[in-house]
Amino acid sequence: MSNIGSYEERRKSFDWKEAERELGYPENGNHNIAWYCVDRHCEKGRGGKTALIWEGHAGEEKRFTFDDLRLHTNAFAARFRELGVEPGERICLFMDKIPELYFSFLGGLKMGGIVQPLFSAFGEDSLITRLEDAETRAIVTTKKHVRKVRRILDRLPHLQHILVVDADGFALKDRETAFDYEKAPPVETFPAHAVTPESPSVLHYTSGTTGKPKGALHVHGSLVSQYITTKWVLDLQDDDIYWCTADPGWVTGTSYGIIGPWSNGCTQLVLDSGFGSARWYEFMQKHRATVWYSAPTAIRLLMRDGTELVQKHDLSSLRHLASVGEPLNAEAVVWSKEAFGKEFHDTYWQTETGCMVLCNYPGLPVKPGSMGKPFPGIEAGVVDPKNHEPVKQGTVGLIALRPGWPSMFRAYWNNEKTYNEKFQNGWYICGDRASIDEDGYYWFVGRDDDVINTGGHLVGPFEIESALIEHEAVAESAAVGKPDKVNMEVVKAFVALKPGFEPNDDTELSIMNFIRKKLSPLAMPQEIEFVPSLPKTRSGKILRRMLRAKEWGEEIGDTSTLEDD
Ligand code: WT7
Repeated sequence: MSNIGSYEERRKSFDWKEAERELGYPENGNHNIAWYCVDRHCEKGRGGKTALIWEGHAGEEKRFTFDDLRLHTNAFAARFRELGVEPGERICLFMDKIPELYFSFLGGLKMGGIVQPLFSAFGEDSLITRLEDAETRAIVTTKKHVRKVRRILDRLPHLQHILVVDADGFALKDRETAFDYEKAPPVETFPAHAVTPESPSVLHYTSGTTGKPKGALHVHGSLVSQYITTKWVLDLQDDDIYWCTADPGWVTGTSYGIIGPWSNGCTQLVLDSGFGSARWYEFMQKHRATVWYSAPTAIRLLMRDGTELVQKHDLSSLRHLASVGEPLNAEAVVWSKEAFGKEFHDTYWQTETGCMVLCNYPGLPVKPGSMGKPFPGIEAGVVDPKNHEPVKQGTVGLIALRPGWPSMFRAYWNNEKTYNEKFQNGWYICGDRASIDEDGYYWFVGRDDDVINTGGHLVGPFEIESALIEHEAVAESAAVGKPDKVNMEVVKAFVALKPGFEPNDDTELSIMNFIRKKLSPLAMPQEIEFVPSLPKTRSGKILRRMLRAKEWGEEIGDTSTLEDD
C-alpha cells in the first residue's frame, strides 16, 4: 500500500494541519527544521538508524546514523556560533557533495542562520553576484574551491569567515579558519535555535530573464510541505533506501535531498561523482536503492546507453521512480518501464514553490508526457496571460497557484518589486505555459520567458550576456536556448565582435572558456554565432526572442509586438 492511498480521497480531506500533527508541530515552541530532521529521531530512540550512505568518486564509502548526524550538525552549529555568526545571517555552502555539505546545511539551520547553498562549479562572477546580494557572512568550502573565494574577497566586506573543512596541511589566508568535524571535540548538546514557522531558513538563487539572479527566501515552516510531499509523492517508507541525484546547490537537493527524506527518518544515498550510466547502476545495485528521484536529462543519457547496460545489473530493489526539472518526454517514460519495469513519475515545481506542486502519484495512472495533477492541498490552475482568469480546459495558458502553502518562498532577497510582480489576481504565476486535459492532468508547453533550461538547470540570459561583454572581443551579444536532444536546451550565444577581432575558432573557444570559468560549465555557450549586429527594437533592446524563435524553427510573427519586451 502506498503512503498516499487514494489521491482523490486525499484531495477531498486534505489539511496541512494533518502533516503538522504527524510531525508533532507544537502550537508554540520550536520549529527548527534541523531538529525535525535529526534530533527528533534520536529522541524517539531511532538514533542508531542509518541516515546517510555516502560514496565518493573513487568509490570510498562513509556511513552515518541519525545520532552521528546529530553530533556533526551540533559541531557545525557550535562552530558558527563561536565565530560570532548571528541567527539570520547568511551562511553560504560552497563545496562538492561531501558529507560536510549535509552537516553544515543542518548545522547552519540549527544555529538559526540562513543557509545559502551554491553549486560548487560556479565561477567567480556567479559567486560574487550571489554573495554580494545576500551580504553573506560566512562560507563553508574546501581547498579545491577556496581559491575562487580568495580571488573575490576584497569585493566582499561582509564575508568575514571562510571555513575550510579539509584544511589539513593547507596554508590558510586572511579570514580563513580550519574546521574538521572528525577532529573537533564532540558537541553532545546544542539546543536548536528557537524559530517560528515564519523564520527564514534557506536562500536559493534562481535565474530570471532580466537582472541578476534572484534569491528565493524560504522559511522553517517549509518543512511541513516538504515532509508530506516526500511521504506521498516519493512514497518513502521506513525501510527504503532513497537516492536523490540532485546537488544541494539547487532546490531539489535541499527540499528532497535533505529536508524531505530526513524529516521522514529515511536512509538516503549520496554519490559525490559526476554522471556515468554504469557508475549509477553499480551504485544503486550495491546499495539496493529502492526509491530514485532524478532528472530527465539523466534519464535521456541512460536511455542513450541502452537497455542492455541496465540488464547487466541487478536493479530489482527499485520500486518507485520520479523525476523533476524539465519536461519528461513520453519516450523516456515508456523506456523506463521497459528498462526498469517501472515508470518515471514526473513532478513539476520550482525554487519558489519549495515543494512539488504538480505530480504523478503512486497508484494514479501515468499519462506519459504529462506532469500529473496538483498535490492535495495545492490549488492550481491555468490562467490567461492577460487577465489572469482561468482558461477553458484544453487551452494553453500560464500555470498559476493559490498562495498559502507552507513552503512558498516569502521574498526575493532585496527585490520586493519582482516578488510582487509574481502575484496577479490572487494567484502566484509560475512563469510556465501549460494546458489541462479532460482528466485534470497538466501538460507542459514551455516557459513564458527567455530563461534557458539546460539539463534541468535554469540559466539567465542576462547573466551570460553581462559576462560576455566583459570579454575583450565582444561588442554586443544575446544568449538564447537552442534545442538539444539530451539537455533539452543548451546555451547559444550570438556575438557581434569589436573591430580588430576575427570571427574564427580561436575567438569562439576563447569566449566559451571565458564564460565557463566566470560563470559555470552550465552557462557556457555550446555554440557561438558571429553576426555583424544584433536585431533590436526601435528603442534599442535586443530581440532575444526573435533569435530564439529562429533556433526552434518557430514563427517569429509580428515583431512589433516584441517592442515592449
Ligand atoms: C523551472 C523551475 C524544482 C526543481 C528543479 C528546478 C522547469 C521543473 C518541470 C517539469 C517541465 C519543469 C519549469 C520551472 N520545470 N519541473 N516536470 N516539466 N518543466 O527548479 O531551477 O527553480 O526551475 O523548471 O520551467 O519553472 P528551478
